[in-house]
Amino acid sequence: MFKRFNRTRRTTGPASSAAAEKAAVRPVSPEPSRKPAPEAAAGPANLAARAETARTFARRRAAAQAAPDDKERRRREKLNEIKVEMHRRLLDTLNLAAIDDAPEADLKAEIAAICSEGLQEMGMVLNKEERQTLHQELYDEVKGLGPLEPLLRDDTVSDILVNGPHQVYVERGGKLELSDVRFRDEKHLQRIIDKIVSAVGRRVDESNPYVDARLKDGSRFNAMIPPIAVDGSLVSIRKFKKEKLSVDDLVRFGAFSEEMALYLQAAVATRLNVIVSGGTGSGKTTTLNALSSFIDNSERILTIEDTAELQLQQPHVGRMESRPPNVEGKGAVTQRDCLRNALRMRPDRIIVGETRGEEVIDMLQAMNTGHDGSMTTIHANSARDAVSRLENMVAMAGIDMPLKAVRQQIASAVNLIVQVSRLQDGSRRMLSITEITGMEGEIITMQEVFRFERTGLGEGGKVLGHFTATGVRSFYSERFRQWGYELPPDIYEPVAAQ
Ligand SMILES: Nc1ncnc2c1ncn2[C@@H]1O[C@H](COP(=O)(O)OP(=O)(O)OP(=O)(O)O)[C@@H](O)[C@H]1O
Ligand SMILES: [Mg+2]
Repeated sequence: MFKRFNRTRRTTGPASSAAAEKAAVRPVSPEPSRKPAPEAAAGPANLAARAETARTFARRRAAAQAAPDDKERRRREKLNEIKVEMHRRLLDTLNLAAIDDAPEADLKAEIAAICSEGLQEMGMVLNKEERQTLHQELYDEVKGLGPLEPLLRDDTVSDILVNGPHQVYVERGGKLELSDVRFRDEKHLQRIIDKIVSAVGRRVDESNPYVDARLKDGSRFNAMIPPIAVDGSLVSIRKFKKEKLSVDDLVRFGAFSEEMALYLQAAVATRLNVIVSGGTGSGKTTTLNALSSFIDNSERILTIEDTAELQLQQPHVGRMESRPPNVEGKGAVTQRDCLRNALRMRPDRIIVGETRGEEVIDMLQAMNTGHDGSMTTIHANSARDAVSRLENMVAMAGIDMPLKAVRQQIASAVNLIVQVSRLQDGSRRMLSITEITGMEGEIITMQEVFRFERTGLGEGGKVLGHFTATGVRSFYSERFRQWGYELPPDIYEPVAAQ
């Protein structure tokens, strides 16, 4: 566990990392002045000749590229045809009911035998590598999730996003990239979706065209089929990471600074109510999970999520997962139901994976009534925005309360808003830590204690910047001191860009 209070503070804080980043910035040289090329000045005839030469070169380049591309495409099409045919034969030959129990080696041997017979009949010869790929793809098709299998096996892939059968994006190291994975057609894609959802006891069809589920391995899965998905089924998979990122990992990756970690440790340990705010995929759940490591082992924690993703390390944790209604529209158990029930289960802390609806009322009440130290995430772009979102959620839950009263509830329930973001270079950073300090008239007052100060863009679009304190001392300093978490005063000193 992250135990910085027992250690001497490292002096290599953001100042030095900022210095390193700063050192990486190259001075931007002024753009070289562009003198007109002598030929350009030589008249229209020359210009036309140059344009013609450029066009010829472009044509030659395209022709040179087209030849191997065409060959490669034809080869891929042929392999695909073979795969479809072999798959058909497999389905005809194999005893599908027995597949689930068949040992992997037996099934693979069977596939190899059926393939070699089929290829002979078709008069096709494949090299060793092509044969191996074919066998693996067929195995994945029969036993697993077809084209998705290699991506699910690949630990460097964190998200899989399917936009119809012919376009599959993956996220690696924070960057989205188009993969060369393809489904044969929409039917193929829907067969895989069916396979996934039926394995977790759900259904997706015309009358029920979207589904949100958790896969057996813990990955989060969402699918939507046509006609609601206009250009073919849409699938998003957030892969489950066995090794969750710890506070130390996040500091090492530059998600926040040592000083911020120290502050957050004090905030969580002294039971401030924390909201982690951010956009989609910005690292809210990861941050929440990491922050939970600061909770003492003796506390009873209850977690409530739509899809159980949190992995708390403490021994005394009760996990709840809400349930959508079944096909007849019955049997739903909402986050709000879980939360209300949780309050009767004597929790020390309640953690709600994401507050997005009517459960906000019970969450605020829980925070206000003795379950301090509770935490949740919210979809918002800034601390102010997070508060507006809370207000809106209260209004939408049908609670008829004057705005000022709602604000008072929020101001006394929430102590801290931590804003995370996925920046344009794919890196995830904690952009600000903001404390809620009370109310002034109708307005909720806040103060930012730490923030990420962006300084520019470096090579390859890398976002440059450093973490700094804003110079204000924490509103909760006295509380930290009373609880034995006295922070060194210099962590509140701003770090100047060097
Ligand atoms: N600081 C970080 N450095 C590297 N990877 C990160 C970092 N924070 C989060 N990730 C990765 O980014 C992905 C998205 O993170 P996470 O699930 O926490 O986001 P989220 O905001 O909760 O998303 P959603 O809005 O979909 O619930 C995960 O694969 C996670 O491992
Ligand atoms: Mg999340």
